[in-house]
Amino acid sequence: MVRARVFVTRRLPEETLAGLLGAAEVYVWPEESVPVPREFLLSEASECEALLTMLSDRVDEELLAASPGLKVVANMAVGYDNIDLDAARRHGVVITNTPGVLDDATADLAFALLLAAARRLPEAERMLRQGQWTGWSPLWLAGKDLRGATLGIVGAGRIGQAMARRGKGFGMRILYTARGPKPAFEAELGAEYRSLADLLAESDFVSLHVPLTPKTRELIGRKELARMKPGAVLINTARGAVVDEDALYDALSAGHLQAAGLDVYSVEPVPLDHPLLTLPNVVALPHLGSATVETRLTMARLAADNILAVLQGRSPLTPVSL
Ligand code: DGY
Repeated sequence: MVRARVFVTRRLPEETLAGLLGAAEVYVWPEESVPVPREFLLSEASECEALLTMLSDRVDEELLAASPGLKVVANMAVGYDNIDLDAARRHGVVITNTPGVLDDATADLAFALLLAAARRLPEAERMLRQGQWTGWSPLWLAGKDLRGATLGIVGAGRIGQAMARRGKGFGMRILYTARGPKPAFEAELGAEYRSLADLLAESDFVSLHVPLTPKTRELIGRKELARMKPGAVLINTARGAVVDEDALYDALSAGHLQAAGLDVYSVEPVPLDHPLLTLPNVVALPHLGSATVETRLTMARLAADNILAVLQGRSPLTPVSL
């Protein structure tokens, strides 16, 4: 029997692919940090029944139309804004993602950004290393308290709720937006449901946890930033394009917002001359939300298991609804 052909777009530890290796012809792009070139991806996809992709791989009409044998694309990410779902539906290709296995890792990183921005950690470290620590002074590098502050969670899905739990542990009051009220979440944390406009106006810290869709693109624009409390802090571990970055630059440089903690950007890798990187009150990380060894291995295994399920005629474990 001819074995199905699978292309994996980044080098992954072999043990994560063990199930697949036993059942299919698996080709792996040999680089871990260099994305597969588009032409190479197109040519591999055209001969494959399954692709294991990263969020940096564009899966669009061009790719799907040129890949008649493709049955499944398993994205090793919870987000799937790199995939054209309408095109996948038209071409009958199953799409899967990796929900549920990265909530704590991502919330940990979002909370690390919140603490770093609130207490000005990168700024303080830079000053120390530059010899600017000349002595103790009452308000030098003084930051913001967490206890008693209000944390607004925009998008109280799994990751948003995990972030809220961390906030609660630090004595914060929790507000949230979602498609509708979530009674169990409210009962657990005393969280209060708000419209986006009210949440922005009441929160000292706003953390974004919505997927990038046409509806959430630039959800946080100039008007929304202006609604935020003076001195508030914005945390984004969702997707860069959820925020209007020019407007965010203006809000931070004018001093309306105290700080931002960013893990994601509208263009990644973020260009080094990006205006946001010139601001001392921006804590900037290179898209590390789910980057713990255990979590990334679990994501890779889940993506591989999704492919295996589809190739064996079973239902995928974590399909994206098309
Ligand atoms: C995701 O899974 O969508 C994260 O952004 C990357 O881990």
